[in-house]
Amino acid sequence: MTCALAVASGWAAPAPAITQEAKVPPYTLPDPLVCADGTAVRDVAVWRAKRRPELLEIFAREIYGRTPAGRPAAMRFEVTSVDREALGGKATRKEVTLWFTGKTDGPRMHLLIYQPNGVSTPPPVFLGLNFIGNHTVHADPGITLAQPRVVYDVPRYRPADSQPAVKEEQRGAHADKWQIETVIARGYATASAWCNDLCPDRLDGLKDPMSVAALFVTGGAEERAGDAWGAMGAWAWGLSRALDYIESDGDLDAKRVAVHGFSRLGKAADWAAAQDERFAMLVTNESGCGGSALSKRIYGETVAIINGKFPYWFAKNFRRYDDNESALPVDQHQLLALIAPRPLYVASADGDQWSDPRGEFLGAQGAEPVYALFGKKGLGVTAMPALNTPVGETIGYHDRTGKHDMTDYDWARYLDFADRQLKR
Ligand code: GCU
Repeated sequence: MTCALAVASGWAAPAPAITQEAKVPPYTLPDPLVCADGTAVRDVAVWRAKRRPELLEIFAREIYGRTPAGRPAAMRFEVTSVDREALGGKATRKEVTLWFTGKTDGPRMHLLIYQPNGVSTPPPVFLGLNFIGNHTVHADPGITLAQPRVVYDVPRYRPADSQPAVKEEQRGAHADKWQIETVIARGYATASAWCNDLCPDRLDGLKDPMSVAALFVTGGAEERAGDAWGAMGAWAWGLSRALDYIESDGDLDAKRVAVHGFSRLGKAADWAAAQDERFAMLVTNESGCGGSALSKRIYGETVAIINGKFPYWFAKNFRRYDDNESALPVDQHQLLALIAPRPLYVASADGDQWSDPRGEFLGAQGAEPVYALFGKKGLGVTAMPALNTPVGETIGYHDRTGKHDMTDYDWARYLDFADRQLKR
């Protein structure tokens, strides 16, 4: 598929990935605190009034595509199930459908929520999208099976159109990536929705009549405008709509929502948190290229590789930087800087060189000057820490041993960080 696309649009094959540190070419990073007109940002007022909007505009126009105006006026929420005795009585499980047009024949998203029982105040919430359906985040038989348009074969996330339906056996397939019992035991609620409810993760997903991209008539991967959004934008938009729901639910603390994501969904979480300042915290797990890893540092996945393989994820304008990263007017440290002064946790895995752990660390480090502007201490280290050694104050970071994954080790670090940053 990649080859056919490349030939059809006249692209050159991307340069092969570099995975040896010594081969990384030199690069220069743009300064988050210098405006496009050369003005230096010396205080929070100028950051907020001038530089932050300027950076958001560049990320929208050149990388993620523009997000259509916020909350749809007719959107409504329908609580479809409540079980106050879920997880052996430890939690309340809720399922909510967000009807984006208010109509039941239009685009919708199913949100699954677990909240701890026996808490005296509304708990903070971890909110993230899942890869293959709500029923995969826990084996709980009470979770409604996802209603897919395309069925995915676990665990490779590849569409398998021939399969007739989501299968019972998929229940809990990604439970280890969600650690729901642990999250609940630590006093947090957890909320999740399937990314495919918003935009199917496939080449023609933007044209799916039930996707939010189709709702805003932005067009398919090739025919849309250069600055129109792609799947990443639609996924980020859905996270903000989930937050709209959380704001309406008195059982949850909407002021303490940590948005999180793993891999492609970590990229979406980054973009959601950058745009929507209602998110109190961001956890970005191995989000790599187009997420927390620097693009101008050529290591692992590059802009040309990601655009070639996933031409529907980002704006078409992002293709201008295929094997041409030095021309990018921004880099991902500036995306992370848009989270400031809110707590941010970036995590890498040593066995996942594709997402460039060092590039992710440097992305986090590059955001520090903006945190400093707010009087916040970022990582608190100057060199990348040893493996399995979490660091950081308002910006947390670790590089775990092991493969591309979101594990109990990662969750323990996120919960410790959230205890410090979000618990009253
Ligand atoms: C691919 C892709 C990455 C992405 C990952 C994932 O490896 O190249 O950019 O992060 O899939 O989402 O698992």
